Amino acid sequence: MSGPEPGPAAPRIRLIRGGPVIVDGPIDIDHDGETVHCDRFRVALCACGRSKIKPFCDTSHRRTRRR
Ligand code: FES
Repeated sequence: MSGPEPGPAAPRIRLIRGGPVIVDGPIDIDHDGETVHCDRFRVALCACGRSKIKPFCDTSHRRTRRR
């Protein structure tokens, strides 16, 4: 008896409170009307809006605090 073939592993996404969204790569990211490709095995995407290299996290979330 055979079942369905296993498909590719579901992508893993990790949410860091107050920080980035961590996604397993490689990935294509749709950002501001463009597609950005990243070959890294793990990618940190900015979720705070303060990064100067969006869509990627540049760790600005660590330095800047909202008041
Ligand atoms: S989440 Fe790190 S700079 Fe925005």
